[in-house]
Amino acid sequence: MERTLVLIKPDVLERKLMGEIISVYEKTNLHIAAIKIIKPTEQIAEKHYIEHKEKPFYVELIRYITRGEVCALIIEGENAITEVRKINGDTDPEKAEPASIRGKYGISKTENSVHSSDSKESSEREISIWF
Ligand code: TYD
Ligand code: MG
Repeated sequence: MERTLVLIKPDVLERKLMGEIISVYEKTNLHIAAIKIIKPTEQIAEKHYIEHKEKPFYVELIRYITRGEVCALIIEGENAITEVRKINGDTDPEKAEPASIRGKYGISKTENSVHSSDSKESSEREISIWF
């Protein structure tokens, strides 16, 4: 049993597509164990994206993730981390499978609709930030 932290990002809530994205996860064999809506402070966003602090896209990323509400979820199940990253698709919506969430809903590399943890260590770290 594994858990992963998912964020449904501001571009989705702004376009009132949150329910559609939640449905995608709900239709899998994975279980939505917790869910909440939150407008991230800069502090929480910087903590979440600490590994990208020195990247050229960092400032734009923080501005984007703090500009509106996000929906945070804990999703659990067998291979939840890998499964959810597969469902989400490539970071860049243009490279993502058309059927993936990012392929279908993503606007740009920054405004790519969803986040999910990339390892067991990051999922535990990220869950403690958001829940
Ligand atoms: P990253 O952890 O590389 O991607 P993922 O979300 O797929 O794990 O990057 C974190 C976020 O930073 C990514 O979702 C969107 C943003 N980002 C950019 O804006 N530009 C970029 O070139 C990259 C690589 C990421
Ligand atoms: Mg990442």
